[in-house]
Amino acid sequence: MNQVSPISIVQITDMHLFAAENHHLVGIPTRDSFQAVIERLKDLQPELDLLLLTGDLSGDGTVESYENLQNLLSPLKIPTYWVPGNHDCAIAMDEILNLGLLSRRKSFERGKWNFILLNSSVPECVHGHLSAETLNWLDSQLKILSNYPTVIALHHPPFLVNSEWLDSSTLQNPEELFAILDNHPQVKLVLCGHIHQEFEYQRHNVHYLGTPSTCIQFKPKSATFALEQKPPGFRLLKLYPDGNWETWVERVSYFHPVELKAKGY
Ligand SMILES: [Fe+2]
Repeated sequence: MNQVSPISIVQITDMHLFAAENHHLVGIPTRDSFQAVIERLKDLQPELDLLLLTGDLSGDGTVESYENLQNLLSPLKIPTYWVPGNHDCAIAMDEILNLGLLSRRKSFERGKWNFILLNSSVPECVHGHLSAETLNWLDSQLKILSNYPTVIALHHPPFLVNSEWLDSSTLQNPEELFAILDNHPQVKLVLCGHIHQEFEYQRHNVHYLGTPSTCIQFKPKSATFALEQKPPGFRLLKLYPDGNWETWVERVSYFHPVELKAKGY
């Protein structure tokens, strides 16, 4: 790789896999919709450097769901890192998703960028919160690590998306995160899951990005739970060693009718 070549990252989020491979989530067989994303990533594979999975990898938190994930990802042969979401079981993930190219590491460097992954999940809760321990660890990592441009990833967005039901379960202490990020201008990007839709928010010089799920898509700006009949998607990011970056969302050609009248998921 020459000095100006970017690294290519894919963010995959909210797969909601289950122990039973044919399990449907409000009409969508989540394994099949994720498989459609995997097939597209196989085409892109030669140019991909790493995958970031931003939570709700499982819909039921079972060991089997994480084994299914492992099996689905293994043909890609791409280094993969992850954070838990509110539907996940962080303990099971730590044990299972740490084999071969799957790593539970939460701080690493690639292509002259630093990556710091945060666990915002709270056991038995839908909303997110960053503990004092996690916030202190983030601050110390940002002090210890080189001044490379930095990507942070966490499941719960530290911003609102103008959707009342979703906004009640975003990160509950965003100000504590912002207070740290304000002291570390090398942070360029914050990647989030949870909202099952494309979203972009900018605060100071940091861009906060939300990404579609690989299964069901939430209807933007809806006050109550509502779905949208849109295909599964993922986010591509090109990160240049000088700190510049580009990103876009890609959707795959997969169609399965969703239960648009569902009241929850
Ligand atoms: Fe979530």
